[in-house]
Amino acid sequence: MPYRLRDLLAKNRAWAEDVEHQRPGFFTGLLKQQAPQYLWIGCADSRVPANEILGLLPGDVFVHRNVANVVVHSDLNALSVMQYAIDQLHVRHIMVVGHYGCGGVTAALKGLRIGIADNWLRHVQDVRNKHRAWLDGLAGDTERLEALCELNVLEQSLNVCETTVVQDAWARGQSVVVHGWVYGLHNGLLEDLEMTVRGPGEVQPAYERSLAGLKARRAAGVASPSAD
Ligand code: CO
Repeated sequence: MPYRLRDLLAKNRAWAEDVEHQRPGFFTGLLKQQAPQYLWIGCADSRVPANEILGLLPGDVFVHRNVANVVVHSDLNALSVMQYAIDQLHVRHIMVVGHYGCGGVTAALKGLRIGIADNWLRHVQDVRNKHRAWLDGLAGDTERLEALCELNVLEQSLNVCETTVVQDAWARGQSVVVHGWVYGLHNGLLEDLEMTVRGPGEVQPAYERSLAGLKARRAAGVASPSAD
């Protein structure tokens, strides 16, 4: 829905008044510190806003978003966010959140050219290629797209676990749990792909368990969220 910019500023004032009315002193309280427990790494898609989906207010979740929720080993932007969140803010959970119907994942799956992002989405094509034999065996394009959205969450969660930032945190005994979630645009619900990792020894087993789980769900024909 198109708004004029002055309408957006008016909506902002109404929102701030409402929050302050519900929780007097909320904003001045946030001035002193932020103490989020969660780092959300998600897609830039406008339909997947971290705070709203979690029902959380400002101050509760640290957020990094990019096209197709990709975590690249050498991405200083993502690494800087992760290091600040873990070392300074001491977040306890990192969730990599993909979503069904992701345009970036669709482009990667089909090899569509969309621009500069093609180079970024090569990383998702690497995921596609890694699992190509299995993906090719799925029934149709819709199912392949859903499956690649899920696989991308697993692989990017794996990348999070392998960063020096997370490895160092675990080495010094800091509690950081990495999770892989996928979001349904069609129903507003998050699903835990059970890629849950609490330490270096759990990375590979969690990945393999989660991968086996999502393959089993596809084989059983129970996972077809976009078709609901
Ligand atoms: Co997306």
